[in-house]
Amino acid sequence: MNYDDLARQYDFTGRTVVITGATGVLGGEIACALVGCRANVAMLDRNLGPGKGLLELMGPDGASHAVLVGGDVLDVESLQRAARSVVERFGRIDALINAAGGNKPEATAGADRSFFDLPSEALRWVIDLNLLGTILPCQVFGRLMAERGEGVILNISSMNAFRPLTRIPAYSAGKAGVSNFTQWLAVHMAQEYSPRIRVNAIAPGFFLTNQNRFLLTERESGELTPRGRSIVAHTPMGRFGEPADLFGTVMWLLSDASAFVTGIVVPIDGGFSAFSGV
Ligand SMILES: NC(=O)c1ccc[n+]([C@@H]2O[C@H](COP(=O)([O-])OP(=O)(O)OC[C@H]3O[C@@H](n4cnc5c(N)ncnc54)[C@H](OP(=O)(O)O)[C@@H]3O)[C@@H](O)[C@H]2O)c1
Repeated sequence: MNYDDLARQYDFTGRTVVITGATGVLGGEIACALVGCRANVAMLDRNLGPGKGLLELMGPDGASHAVLVGGDVLDVESLQRAARSVVERFGRIDALINAAGGNKPEATAGADRSFFDLPSEALRWVIDLNLLGTILPCQVFGRLMAERGEGVILNISSMNAFRPLTRIPAYSAGKAGVSNFTQWLAVHMAQEYSPRIRVNAIAPGFFLTNQNRFLLTERESGELTPRGRSIVAHTPMGRFGEPADLFGTVMWLLSDASAFVTGIVVPIDGGFSAFSGV
C-alpha cells in the first residue's frame, strides 16, 4: 500500500486519533496508515510490546507523530489516565477507533465443548471485551468530544452482527451489541451534544489474525480448516481480507468527506453479507 496516494485524498495533519487494541493486527495496520496520512496517533493497548515494531515500521518521521499508551478498555481509570497523557502529548483528541476486541477458544462451541458447557467466565470475558470494551472508551474519550462539540468515533463490528456464524455465540452477541450501540450513541451524541460528533462502525469480513487463526487454519500444517474453506467459498471475491482493504472506509468515516454520515455500519467483506450461498 502506497500511503502517499492515501495522503493526497485524506490529509489528517494536526488531528489526533486514539486507537484501542492498536498493537493488534488490524488496529496496528490502521495506526500505520493514519500516520502515513499525517495524523497524530495514540496507540492504546494493554500489552505495548508489539507496538515497538510498529513504531519502527512507521520510520522516524512517522513515529514522531505516534505514541504508545498503556490502557485496558475494561478499566475506566486506566482509560482516563491514557486520555490525560494523550491530551498532554498532542493537545486534544479528534477521533477514537475502538479496535480492541476478540474471541477465545473457551467461548467457542465444538466437538470437545458443547454450547451447554461453555463456561460463564469465558462467555462473559468475550461479551465484556467486545461490548463493554467499546462502550467504556466511548464514555471516556467521548466526554472530551462532547466538551469540544466535535469528534468522530469508529467502532469495529463484525459479520456476526448481521447474521451469527456457528460456534461463537458470545462473540456474535457482543458484536451485535456493538452495532446496536453504534446507532444508539450516534443519535445520543447528535441530539444531546453536537451534530458535529459522529459515530459509525465498520464490519470487516474475514481477515486472518490472531483471534481467529485457531478456527480458520490447522495448527500444524497451516492449511485452511473446513470452516476456513467455507468462508472463502461464501465470499464472492474468493479470498480473506487484507488490512489495507479497510483503509479507504476508515479514512472516509474519519474525515469530513463523511460529514453527514452517522449511525451506520459498513460491511467490508468481499461480498460475504450479500451472498445467499446459491
Ligand atoms: N480479524 C477479523 O477477521 C475480524 C473480523 C471482524 C471484526 N474484527 C474485529 O476487529 C478488531 C481487531 O481485531 P484483530 O483481528 O486485529 O485482533 P487482534 O490482533 O487480537 O487485536 C486486538 C487487540 O486488542 C487488544 N486487547 C484485548 N483485550 C484488551 C483490553 N482489555 N484492553 C486493551 N486492549 C485489549 C489485544 O491485546 P492482546 O494481544 O494482549 O490480547 C490486541 O492487541 C476486533 O474488535 C475484532 O473483533 C476482526
